[in-house]
Amino acid sequence: MFEKNCLKGRSGIITGGSSGIGLGLAAYLSEHGAGLTLTGRSSEKLEAAVASLSGEIALAAGDVRRPEDVERGLQTHLARFGKVDFLINNAAGNFLCPLENMSPNAFQSVMNIVVNGTFLWSKAVQPHMKARAYGRIINIGTTYSWAHGANVAHSGAAKAAVLNLTKTMAVEWGPMGILTNLIAPGPVKETEGLRRLMPDEKHMAAFQRLMPVPRFAERREIAALALFLLSPMAGYINGAAIPVDGGLHLSIPGLLPVGTPIDGALKR
Ligand code: COA
Repeated sequence: MFEKNCLKGRSGIITGGSSGIGLGLAAYLSEHGAGLTLTGRSSEKLEAAVASLSGEIALAAGDVRRPEDVERGLQTHLARFGKVDFLINNAAGNFLCPLENMSPNAFQSVMNIVVNGTFLWSKAVQPHMKARAYGRIINIGTTYSWAHGANVAHSGAAKAAVLNLTKTMAVEWGPMGILTNLIAPGPVKETEGLRRLMPDEKHMAAFQRLMPVPRFAERREIAALALFLLSPMAGYINGAAIPVDGGLHLSIPGLLPVGTPIDGALKR
């Protein structure tokens, strides 16, 4: 649908780019001509990812929680591409755990990856974008950003914070030519998130029956919105939070506890 090389000459960074939604974004954006730097904690996973992709791709192993890794990743990108047109804050951490069993370290780990990772990377690219009066930042959220996240209190709180950060960045940095938006996927096939949050086939089937579009997303359906947001056609979209979940948030406003609510919803 989009012209094959519509992002030719543009380059950007995708955090958590070695698997799941991040890898889907990398495949789709590089197919459309973008130069990319992918970050991730595991060099091996990054190497495997780049082997599956074509296009101009740099790798920057590092942890989004560590300012020195973020700075090194940015320098890797600038050395290869000379500028940074866009940043996609995609790296995340998640697992199902009831709040009453969640340790302080578990809560902090996810908050740190999602909130501080987004903060650190956005802060790192902002001066470079401001200097050129051009930048696009996309934060990957979730539809439970603005609802509730039973059994994922850490991720729910973190993604809600990212939603707020998105809006703040949009108003503070919009006048500098930097547009910030949030994509909120529902369940997406071939992702660690799906494996972690939908523990079994029964749960998946139950979820899908409650979805207005009764299937999980393909990774490219998330990436297609990112491509649009990075295109010149989206030059007036700033501070938006856009669900890509087939309307799931309208039928299930949040993530439901495993077991009873899904079963309860099915019984209705
Ligand atoms: N249930 C309960 N607690 C868990 C857990 C689980 N499934 N997995 C990890 N934890 C706890 C650990 O026990 C630890 O707490 P403790 O020190 O009180 O025991 C804390 O979380 C941190 O775990 P650790 O493995 O040391 O953290 P890490 O920084 O290496 O990893 C995580 C971060 C925990 C988020 C890990 O799951 C991860 O790396 N995830 C990345 C991939 C991902 O989640 N993708 C899905 C995105 S939607």
